[in-house]
Amino acid sequence: MPKICVIPGDGVGPEVIDSTLEVLHNLDVNLDYEKAIVGTQSFEKNGVYITKETLELATTSDAILFGALTTPRRRDYVSPLLLMRWNLDLFANIRPALCMNIDFCLVPLDVVIVRENTEGMYGAEEEEFDNNIVITKRTISEYACQRIIDYAFKYASEHDRKKVTCVHKANVLRTSDEMFKKLFYGTAVNFAFYNKIRSDDVLVDAAAMYLAKEPDKFDVIVTLNLYGDILSDEAGGLSGGLGFSPSANIGKDHALFEPVHGSAPDIAGKDAANPTGMMLSAAMMLDHLELPRSAFLIRESLKNMFQDKNNWTKDIGGECGTKDFTERLIKTINEKADSY
Ligand code: IPM
Ligand code: MN
Repeated sequence: MPKICVIPGDGVGPEVIDSTLEVLHNLDVNLDYEKAIVGTQSFEKNGVYITKETLELATTSDAILFGALTTPRRRDYVSPLLLMRWNLDLFANIRPALCMNIDFCLVPLDVVIVRENTEGMYGAEEEEFDNNIVITKRTISEYACQRIIDYAFKYASEHDRKKVTCVHKANVLRTSDEMFKKLFYGTAVNFAFYNKIRSDDVLVDAAAMYLAKEPDKFDVIVTLNLYGDILSDEAGGLSGGLGFSPSANIGKDHALFEPVHGSAPDIAGKDAANPTGMMLSAAMMLDHLELPRSAFLIRESLKNMFQDKNNWTKDIGGECGTKDFTERLIKTINEKADSY
């Protein structure tokens, strides 16, 4: 039975995790869950933001289901999420953004952002000099670029996507981003030939504009770490809000699934969180564990739910609380399950 390491985290994390676990229990999938704490909770208990034991549990699990974490205001803080991305070499961050109902989206978006997840601006190597200057190191390696590009094209061909767009800033970063772009086109020719997948490239600033103005321009986006971080929040916002955005952090041997949103302390404990991003992340986990029927049932039921205003969550102006929404979703899944 696949072992799932569950990390609810803080803020709205535990609420969206509880809702998602309820849905998973109802789906009759045979998974073995083990809960763990990281972040501030772990710091208060163990003096570290993530213990060796938790890292070990994450490493030996078949998947990690992660809620959300509040970032404490401490300079020595390194996000346990980043530590897990690095330690488990979760090099690909897959962030689909889909508008489920144009009544609450800003644009009819259907895009998948494939974000490099291990380097770029995320090395966090910053050096401060006496004259109030800080120099930040940014690493871009051919190895990491190539594997994220390969992943994006493979993803596109497996998910019947027609085009991959490389998003970069090669007009300014003429060595690093130019290398990324060159490697991209080197791979694109093969996929054009064998899989009929089209390709193009867009500067990151223009991509931010086109996402809002001409979302049809995009299908799959492959991009570097920080660009992907920023564009995935934008894509989430355009498709109804971050409450709708799931993500999968995938490595060769490990995988972690988390909503794109943060811990939202302002609404924590108020039954106001939209658990959709978390549930769609769980659906990505089910696909990864080769349980596609259950993944399909979650996705399709969520889409159906949002066609009816009575099921709208509070983040989009509806009245449905987290718990009520979860109950309604389970009902929808059970009705649907009979015909699939
Ligand atoms: C995300 C988050 C993280 C990131 C933070 C919490 C380190 O914003 O998953 O997008 O920047 O990658
Ligand atoms: Mn982010």
